[in-house]
Amino acid sequence: MARIRFQSVSKRYGSGQSAGQFAVEGLDLDIRDQEFLVLLGPSGCGKSTTLNMIAGLEEITEGALLFDDQVMNNVPAHKRDVAMVFQSYALYPHKSVFENIAFGLRMRKVAEAEIKRRVEDAAQRLEIAHLLARRPSQLSGGQRQRVALGRAMVREPSVFLMDEPLSNLDASLRISMRAEIRHLHAQMRSTFVYVTHDQAEALTLADRIVVMNGGRIQQIGTPDDIYERPQTIFVASFLGSPAINLIEGTLARADGAAWFCRGAWRLRLPPELASAADGAAVTLGLRAEDVQLAGDGPADLPAVVETAMPSGADQYLGVRSEGQTLYLRVAKDARVREGDAVGFTLTPQRLHLFDSQTGRSLRAGA
Ligand SMILES: Nc1ncnc2c1ncn2[C@@H]1O[C@H](COP(=O)(O)OP(=O)(O)O)[C@@H](O)[C@H]1O
Ligand SMILES: [Mg+2]
Repeated sequence: MARIRFQSVSKRYGSGQSAGQFAVEGLDLDIRDQEFLVLLGPSGCGKSTTLNMIAGLEEITEGALLFDDQVMNNVPAHKRDVAMVFQSYALYPHKSVFENIAFGLRMRKVAEAEIKRRVEDAAQRLEIAHLLARRPSQLSGGQRQRVALGRAMVREPSVFLMDEPLSNLDASLRISMRAEIRHLHAQMRSTFVYVTHDQAEALTLADRIVVMNGGRIQQIGTPDDIYERPQTIFVASFLGSPAINLIEGTLARADGAAWFCRGAWRLRLPPELASAADGAAVTLGLRAEDVQLAGDGPADLPAVVETAMPSGADQYLGVRSEGQTLYLRVAKDARVREGDAVGFTLTPQRLHLFDSQTGRSLRAGA
């Protein structure tokens, strides 16, 4: 069992004169027992620092960290029931795969027969049973990463921490390893905390995602919450590929409705989206996939195609409209050529609207 709670936790590296800025500031987070929680954000936002505080590898400057109801701030790393997998794998080059996986158990004086049972079981599950006699240098990147996972698995920890474990793998292997890590979580009944800067990885793996920026939490929610109902422009633009289109304009209240206006555009907004006053400076968020080609019918968004970029399953268009370039997704067989004037219809419920000054969502209840 491990529920992990951060209560107003801050971390500052160094002390006295050399103390730097907060790497993490005012962190409040309640991680449920056996949850798969992903910490997502750009490089330097405090993800590893947060993970290392759970592991006991970094001291906590202010606030409290609890496992279940026990305060952990001063509990040393080796007394926490935690295993960690790093991006760099951190394998011992002169030990065999078997001994690399067994290492943590030997340190804890687990009986030989039990070590053998656990290592062989983990190796089987990770499909590296035939590699147990090899050295790390005789393995591929993906195999090394499995050894690192195996070493953490055999500890049967109640908390499993992973810091960008797939970053060194090539793209196709990353996708298959995601599925394996999901599977591992289903089998292990541990609390997983997983760090990544890769939004696609976070959306695939997480029960809940914590989006961080500049040492602070931006939003906590299910992948669906984070993607469909981003609370800030930062979150909206960090998730999704290509990045969400952000269009500056003003909000007008007229004819009993709210309208997004920019130049000649006038877009009727659903009432729940637009909790702002007449004349407010707002930013419209439009994801590439949330448009349809209007054909000969009426269009919400007239544009001129600048670039057409086939990408296998779909086609991305760079279009010019009201002085701005937007990236939009259309069917791969849509017949559009560079230079064409085309119209798009939008689904109002799928639009996002933000206060341009604060960057906060204007969706009611956000
Ligand atoms: N050992 C350290 N000493 C001083 N500053 C550090 C140390 N580790 C990290 N930092 C700083 O703390 C901030 C957060 O870093 P980190 O948690 O590693 O971010 P992330 O894992 O999200 O890339 C960064 O500004 C980084 O430079
Ligand atoms: Mg990091």
